[in-house]
Amino acid sequence: MSETPKNPSPADLDRMSDADLVRLGTEMDEVDVRFRENRWPEGVTTRAEKRAARTVTIWFALSAVLALAFAVIYIAWPWEYRGEGEDGYWLYMVYTPLLGVTIGLSILFLGFGAVQFTKKFVPEEISVQTRHDGPSDEADRRTIVAELNDSWKTSTLGRRKVMGGLLGAGVGLIGLSAILPLGGMIKNPWKRGELTVAGDGTLHTTGWTLASSSRPDGLPAEKVYLGRDTGKVFPDGHPPAGEGRLVRIHVEDLAAGGLESVFPLPENDLGDFEAHMHSIHGVRNAVMLIRFRPEDAARVIKRKGQEEFNYGDLYAYSKICTHLACPTSLYEQQTQRFLCPCHQSQFNALEYAKPIFGPAARALPQLPIAVDSEGYLVANGDFIEPVGPAFWERRS
Ligand code: FES
Repeated sequence: MSETPKNPSPADLDRMSDADLVRLGTEMDEVDVRFRENRWPEGVTTRAEKRAARTVTIWFALSAVLALAFAVIYIAWPWEYRGEGEDGYWLYMVYTPLLGVTIGLSILFLGFGAVQFTKKFVPEEISVQTRHDGPSDEADRRTIVAELNDSWKTSTLGRRKVMGGLLGAGVGLIGLSAILPLGGMIKNPWKRGELTVAGDGTLHTTGWTLASSSRPDGLPAEKVYLGRDTGKVFPDGHPPAGEGRLVRIHVEDLAAGGLESVFPLPENDLGDFEAHMHSIHGVRNAVMLIRFRPEDAARVIKRKGQEEFNYGDLYAYSKICTHLACPTSLYEQQTQRFLCPCHQSQFNALEYAKPIFGPAARALPQLPIAVDSEGYLVANGDFIEPVGPAFWERRS
């Protein structure tokens, strides 16, 4: 071991070995190494060392396998909602717990492995250092690199390829698991599914599209009632057969000056509690049904192309704000304005719900309505423009 110069020049530093640089670094940092001992004798591999290596390897392997299982479950598991009693209900039920268990255990086992590795392979050392201020100079930087190299070598991780590989795999897969869930936010907005009471999955449709005479799926228009949400819940989660949550609204149900939120209620779904819940949860479905007082109805200005959309003094406007899709559910009867609580957009209820204040730039779409032979309110077709905020493909 050569003598360590006190103030080494770059040429001195080039000549020094890693061990010299480590010693120089500890001296310059005023680190006093009181005790240092390798865990295992150098040059021979004892059975105890092999056993220790096996233990650490098993923890890292388990961590990697569980992280991989998390990724596979996240991507391939049949996670779509299934009601109790339906095929695949239990697979659906265990999806979230499985994700939690696999990623939780993976992180736990990685931690166990790291602790075991440190205790069994990193040399024991007791050092004392005095603190000092100021930035590090060149010699400091070089010596710290040498110290890190020294740690790497003495930890023996470099030559324990399987253990190192599994540690890397565990860390890598856990990192991947952290960003994988972001994949759930990636959605193809043009991909059409089956047209249901929640729309077909694209931004152009809603549950009311079922009533359109030109449905995107080519099927004939269905009769879709305006459904009132009764708020019914069942303590055991099992509604009796035929017991629905939405009910039809009769033309005489709403008092003059009143407003009510309504949801699409297809004739085929009357009394189907689950279908009603899908309708209520359809993100573009909510509509404000309003009955103007006669003096207000006389002042209504209709939009070109929507002259026949109302039924008498009953008007139906989308409740989804055209700014950023909050519910515009505040109706100020005195000023005849709909207010959106999110960014204070205001819409004139008497002039086809056009925006008159705030960031919203488009009127709330109006739903054409009519009354059937029994006096119930029904959709007389679909909205003639997309509901909600702007998106690239919309033309209006
Ligand atoms: S979402 Fe309605 S004003 Fe912004």
